[in-house]
Amino acid sequence: MKRISIKAFLAAFLLIGGTGFLSAQNARVKIDIERTIGEVNQNIYGNFAEHLGRCIYGGIYDEGSSLADEDGLRKDVLEAVKGLNVSLVRYPGGNFVSNYHWKDGIGPKDDRPPRMELAWARLETNRFGTDEFMKFVKKAGTEPYLSVNMGTGTIEEAQQWVEYCNVKEGPYYAELRKKYGSVEPYNVKYWSLGNEMDGHWQMGHLNAEDYSKKALEAAKLMRLTSPEIKIIAAGSSNYTPGADPNEWNSTILHELRDVIDYIALHMYVGNPNDNYYNYLSTPRILEERTQIVKGMILREMQGAERESPDPIYIAWDEYNTWYRARTDKALVGNNALEEHYNLEDALVIAGFLNAFVRNADIVKMANMAQLVNVIAPIFTNETGMFKQTIYYPLALFANNVFGTSLDLFVDCDTYNTDNFAIGMGEVTTQQNGVPYLDISATYKDGEVILCVINRHKDKAIATDFISQTGMFNGDFEVYEVNGPDTKADNDFGKTQVETKQKPVIKVNKSDQFSYSFPAHSFTLIKGKIVE
Ligand code: AHR
Repeated sequence: MKRISIKAFLAAFLLIGGTGFLSAQNARVKIDIERTIGEVNQNIYGNFAEHLGRCIYGGIYDEGSSLADEDGLRKDVLEAVKGLNVSLVRYPGGNFVSNYHWKDGIGPKDDRPPRMELAWARLETNRFGTDEFMKFVKKAGTEPYLSVNMGTGTIEEAQQWVEYCNVKEGPYYAELRKKYGSVEPYNVKYWSLGNEMDGHWQMGHLNAEDYSKKALEAAKLMRLTSPEIKIIAAGSSNYTPGADPNEWNSTILHELRDVIDYIALHMYVGNPNDNYYNYLSTPRILEERTQIVKGMILREMQGAERESPDPIYIAWDEYNTWYRARTDKALVGNNALEEHYNLEDALVIAGFLNAFVRNADIVKMANMAQLVNVIAPIFTNETGMFKQTIYYPLALFANNVFGTSLDLFVDCDTYNTDNFAIGMGEVTTQQNGVPYLDISATYKDGEVILCVINRHKDKAIATDFISQTGMFNGDFEVYEVNGPDTKADNDFGKTQVETKQKPVIKVNKSDQFSYSFPAHSFTLIKGKIVE
């Protein structure tokens, strides 16, 4: 038998496309800084903290811990939050808010009433409330976004909370805030009218007509109290079979179109059947839903009588991947929703962020759900914390991706998925023509910032970037989030997935440069475009 030489073997291996190192696909991307989509709003780098599991207690707030400061706030968590450059934090829920009475959480801590927490089956001590949250956002260098109780709460209660937070002095709740230590008002700008009120799981769940009536009156009282506030209505997130999210969204948009500033949408995805390519395509579904709601908004803006000069925007005020910690047991108690993330989850998060940037004209807020321990980028125990894989793409975006979102031309290979369930219990879908490269670009102060996901599991993709207006010039910085394989993860004392700075790409006044994106990676590139 004739023996095959190593050279011939390698040639054959290359031909059939052996590994990411040995074979590559090619792609082309054209960048035109005059072809713009909209301004990226920094509020797309928001986050969310709910009274759920160990997000607040044992996460943000750890009274008595040697890791906490004089206010009971975890110093290591604060540092990690700062690294995410979080623009605003939604609070206090989530499902929790629909039975939360904010007055339980103010005043001397030992006098606050403990309550049964019915959404996630815990005891709520109320030792962390409005004033503690405001201390947290101040120390973390971020902004508060409060959600009012539209389930078991009243419109009067909502009005009084706005008064407590935003009225300088005079009326009872403003004076109460002063009495409890905060002389100056908090001036909370963002307020949402309840959470997922279309969901049958929501305490005090309403139909679209009843929600609209209650929300309209709440908005009226809240704005009379503090005219500058921005109001967010609860859109539908219920894509389980039989639900009609479009019906809910179109009804509430119609009824509330004169008074609201945003419609809130939520989306969680997962990989329960362990199909990498299906899973990596899920941010496209968020993009489809964005376009559907954008169409509804455009329709309602015709004939609306708004005081605001702006149209209604979309706030994706809960998004993440969440499917492992979704068993009956994982949904309740002090350790609820503790999802442990890997590299493929981080790539999906990068996909969501690319989708927000590509839809910068209409998506003006997004909040990763949630901040600490509960489906979160930051994970603590009594002695420390670690950064989950999803921390890294979020930090790269939130610290770099600003300016004008650009409409790119991308030419690369694509794949089709089968019919799959995008999340637990949700309708199935098929995605065709999913590009292996998922890219967004922004332009700011003469710099272009490219965010590139190579979804290919095995192959690098050699990509030519072509400038159609101006020349690339200088050293292009490169940051990569990757790991040894798609299941690589982080833990206490183990960091397999993180951001690594790569050698710069040197460009000498050229309308073109090339870069090869390794398999299963997220890369951020930034550099100058000159005349
Ligand atoms: O973020 C976890 C939960 O997911 C929130 O409480 C709820 O709004 C959503 O269903």
